[in-house]
Amino acid sequence: MEFCGLAFNTPLVLLSGCVGFGEEYTRVAGFSNRDVGAVCLKGTTGQPRLGNPPHRVYETPMGMLNAIGLQNPGVDQVVDRILPELDFSETRFIANVSGSTLEEYHEVTRRFDDSPIDAIEINISCPNVKEGGVAFGNDPDMSARVVETCRKATDKPLVTKLSPNQTDIAGNARRCIEAGSDAFAVINTLMGMAIDIESRRPVIGNNQGGLSGPAIKPVALLKVHQVHQVCRAHGIPIIGQGGVASAEDAIEFLIAGASAVGVGTALFYDPLVCRSINTGIRDYLDRHAIDRVTDLVGTLQLHGGGACG
Ligand SMILES: Cc1cc2nc3c(=O)[nH]c(=O)nc-3n(C[C@H](O)[C@H](O)[C@H](O)COP(=O)(O)O)c2cc1C
Repeated sequence: MEFCGLAFNTPLVLLSGCVGFGEEYTRVAGFSNRDVGAVCLKGTTGQPRLGNPPHRVYETPMGMLNAIGLQNPGVDQVVDRILPELDFSETRFIANVSGSTLEEYHEVTRRFDDSPIDAIEINISCPNVKEGGVAFGNDPDMSARVVETCRKATDKPLVTKLSPNQTDIAGNARRCIEAGSDAFAVINTLMGMAIDIESRRPVIGNNQGGLSGPAIKPVALLKVHQVHQVCRAHGIPIIGQGGVASAEDAIEFLIAGASAVGVGTALFYDPLVCRSINTGIRDYLDRHAIDRVTDLVGTLQLHGGGACG
């Protein structure tokens, strides 16, 4: 299938922060990057970052909280040392760009533009950093300015990763399309907290973290549906994500309007999950006599007078 002019092996995308820099799972027996359409690399900033103090992850019912804090070696190291090691014959690779200022977003995007990377995801929705991140993503004016800035730095496909921690995600998407976004990733993690009742302190060193995994799937599906209402008229594709762990989950996202489906947290407990998701999607298409996966995208039939327009 095709996504933003890129040939994808399958509709699945491995999500940023869950697969290191694209090589992490290739050491797992039976795992192959060929099973997915694209791999999103860990969030990358202008300078190296050490990330947040521990604890950085905490398991919750049907999900997990994380506050890694964008630990990464900096864009120079990623472009000069890591990208040359990746096998671009296996899959498409998408960079994930973060920053504390517009200038940093511009510079990191420019460095990736001058590299073999296939596309660039703009992370304006990271809940785990003090400056930039979700503070940009929850403000439609700032979101649009970040997209505009990155657009000036590259002609490669730009995927804007939207925050679920805002009231009008569809309105924000509209602004990002006007600013030059080619696609969206919907959704990033939801802000959350866990408390140790003995110490009466937050479990996470950063006090709060981003909630991911099956617990957030219903929220993610609604957000994909809402953003799809805006994207449909412009032919703008969405990478739907949030709690996908089975073929049925992925099919729900496709029906809601996602052209591709991301898998993140599920990889931590089943690194080979993409194989069974691919098989399950093919079986579903056969069973329903649907020729191509794209024919399923956005086929949701709302009940009459549904509230989610
Ligand atoms: C440990 C961890 C680290 C993450 N790091 C990033 C990141 O660097 N950049 C980003 O855009 N999203 C990051 N995310 C968010 C995921 O890419 C994904 O959008 C989110 O977890 C929802 O999908 P899931 O429920 O399948 O994990 C991270 C998520 C986790 C669990």
